Amino acid sequence: MNVLIVGSGGREHVIAETVAKSKKEPIIFAVMSKKNPGIAKLCKDYLLSNEVDTQKIVNYALINKIDIAFIGPEAPLAAGIVDELEDKGIKSIGPKKEVARIEFDKAWTRKFMQKYNIEGCPKFGVFNNETEAISFIDTLESVAIKPAGLTGGKGVKVTGDQLQTLDDTKAYVRHVLEKDTVVIEEKLIGEEFTLQAFSDGHTLAFAPTVQDHKRAFEGDKGPNTGGMGSYNSSSILLPFLTDDDLYKAKNIMLDTIKYLKEETSELYKGVIYGQFILTKYGPKVIEFNARFGDPEAMNILPLLKTDFLDVATAIHNESLKDLIVEFDKKATVCKYAVPEGYPDNPVKDAKIKIEDTGDALLFYSSVYEHEGIIYTTGSRSIAVVGISDEIEMAEQIAQNALDNIDGRVFSRRDIGTSKLIEQKMHNMKKIIND
Ligand code: AMP
Ligand code: GLY
Repeated sequence: MNVLIVGSGGREHVIAETVAKSKKEPIIFAVMSKKNPGIAKLCKDYLLSNEVDTQKIVNYALINKIDIAFIGPEAPLAAGIVDELEDKGIKSIGPKKEVARIEFDKAWTRKFMQKYNIEGCPKFGVFNNETEAISFIDTLESVAIKPAGLTGGKGVKVTGDQLQTLDDTKAYVRHVLEKDTVVIEEKLIGEEFTLQAFSDGHTLAFAPTVQDHKRAFEGDKGPNTGGMGSYNSSSILLPFLTDDDLYKAKNIMLDTIKYLKEETSELYKGVIYGQFILTKYGPKVIEFNARFGDPEAMNILPLLKTDFLDVATAIHNESLKDLIVEFDKKATVCKYAVPEGYPDNPVKDAKIKIEDTGDALLFYSSVYEHEGIIYTTGSRSIAVVGISDEIEMAEQIAQNALDNIDGRVFSRRDIGTSKLIEQKMHNMKKIIND
């Protein structure tokens, strides 16, 4: 089997490693915007190309007789890469453009949730007009302001976090409206969690829940990032989540794929990612993504016991209901080393020295290699993942590995520690009882 991986980050590195473990002994190819040393090592051949140059990617796939393509990031999905690959008979793991819309058009998605009465939708409004937008803000106590399109996880601003005053809020609405439609939502309060699933358009095979940490600094402070690290426990739940919460979140995602088919006539095939916030009133949807999370893919894919290519085939053949998709019952902690100054002023071209990372897994993200030395770019550099029976042990494995990575990089020591997790449990209890 010839397998193509599109993308060049930590998420795609773990996708490539998981494909490489398949008993089907696949031959791996990749299209990367920059050379990821970890992916390159697993490949027979790779193409350095813009990941949204769909024509070039399709040609590369045809030349190399690709049987199946895994699309890692959202941008090629939004550019319609899956439609083009499938037109040429190449199976793809990723939704077609019409249904990938759940990620790249937040305005459409909220209206879709509203139309089909999908649970977990906050109060929201979609505006192209400043006066109407501002009068909607006046009806809500606190808000989240979002550009409708893709922003790499950095476009959302929330009252009390990035928006301190009503003037800040209005100014940001004006700023968004210069280029895009604005989505205004009530601010939801609670703990966030991620639920990822494989989808063949009918059935979802759910992975364990994961919690990501978006803020750059310890104590969940500082600017939003693509995600500094994440953990899961050895059960499918997180320490602050109940079976009932998970049941509700799963139903929201099942309704979403069901009604996507009704709305578009297109089956949602690939990975669906639900980002939820557990509020006093149960799980609410922050957003959907049409792909694995980065870092969350690095928590769950190393635990996947079922052959990844069997899962991919079942997605394509719409036979997921007949496949038992299993994950090891282990806790994992993933932490990113990012360049000093990240995300606002990252140091670029700084050397990173990786010594012994012990029992941790290591995934490269936005780095480059020159004469055997790894250098930073402007984005997240290297992720390490500890795996164990307990979150606490997994955290120590990840932290020990980070302590052996030298250079002008930093990471969040607190992710996965008992102290931070207890704070989150306490926070959730308080929200529920208030
Ligand atoms: P997103 O880019 O949609 O993942 O949003 C980035 C971050 O903004 C999320 O991780 C949340 O912390 C926050 N956020 C988004 N929407 C809301 C909302 N309606 N209420 C509270 N926080 C939100
Ligand atoms: N970790 C958040 C995301 O991948 O969107």
